Amino acid sequence: MSRIYLSPPDIGPRDHASVDAVLTSNWVAPTGPALDLFESAVAALANRQHAVALNSGTAALHLALQILGVGAGDAVICPTFTFAASANPICYLGAEPIFVDSEPRTWNMDSVLLEQALKQASNIKAVIVVNLYGQCAEMEAILEICAKYDVPLIEDAAEALGASYCGRPAGSMGAFSFFSFNGNKIITTSAGGMLLSNDSESIAHARYLATQAREPEAHYEHKAIGYNYRMSNLLAGLGNSQLSDLQRRIDIRRAHFEAYRAELGALPGIDFMPIVDPEAANYWLTCLTVDSETSGSSRDALIAALEAVDIEARPLWKPLHLQPVFKEKICHGGELAARLFKDGLCLPSGSAMHQSDREAVITAIKETLA
Ligand SMILES: Cc1ncc(COP(=O)(O)O)c(C=O)c1O
Repeated sequence: MSRIYLSPPDIGPRDHASVDAVLTSNWVAPTGPALDLFESAVAALANRQHAVALNSGTAALHLALQILGVGAGDAVICPTFTFAASANPICYLGAEPIFVDSEPRTWNMDSVLLEQALKQASNIKAVIVVNLYGQCAEMEAILEICAKYDVPLIEDAAEALGASYCGRPAGSMGAFSFFSFNGNKIITTSAGGMLLSNDSESIAHARYLATQAREPEAHYEHKAIGYNYRMSNLLAGLGNSQLSDLQRRIDIRRAHFEAYRAELGALPGIDFMPIVDPEAANYWLTCLTVDSETSGSSRDALIAALEAVDIEARPLWKPLHLQPVFKEKICHGGELAARLFKDGLCLPSGSAMHQSDREAVITAIKETLA
């Protein structure tokens, strides 16, 4: 049996044909028709008017924060329970992250603590909300609080392509939103991201900054410091074929989640990530917690047992307030995120994973817990 990975790329004949078509067209220079198509298709899916494809989700967040004017002396609110890429760009700009704990219903940012954070600091320039593991945060409350304090919201939808919140697509909310298409995401361009907004000037400015801030002159003219952040037309070719297959991928990941929960959910000490609306999540990764008192195992023992039979499982995100690099930063709450990290893991969830592999994962977990 070969190794079962957490969330490997799912590449099929359609992807080969799409990338091949771009190569044959010779639009291998950075821009081109595949890139335009990918931007408009993702914008349509996320119900956004404008989008710019970039070489990572991190680049998208960096540009959004810069366009919102974040700089030295400012603070930006960010969940503590997320990947470091949700906070690193705050620091690129010399600003301070202020972390906020999760709430139990979605494991995403707690709106009560968000309001507490906004009340306690006067230099908050933006709020970043993350739709973790493919489920949207409680966006109604979060949007309302951001409007009340007049602070722009950035939606980190890196993991949430195809998810929704009360009928609104992930990536459609806030002043800016972004997706990631890195290799472990629900669709991939190997590396890539996209920044979206309904404000045409902001996206035009992001496109300019992402293209070395090159002025529209025949010679190379620069009035600002720019970045080399654009996605290539070749990778957009892969993005287009992957995007056309999104619903099938969501359906398969959902089937994995439901099978895991049906087989393991009744075991003592095992709790699956709560799903608020089964039709709204994209089920990027199946996540669960293991209570070491009642389950007969611990999170780490379970991961080790899976590793012993060549199955990759990983702890949930380590909260940012517990990361050495952010240990001096302010955090509102943090206990829930810390507990999720202590007890939580994600299971193999890829859309190319066969049912027999999923059954091997379930059997290995049952044997360990027994
Ligand atoms: C929640 C979250 N935010 C941001 C990112 C950054 O995206 P990228 O890896 O494309 O830079 C990722 C993915 O890696 C992520 O999972």
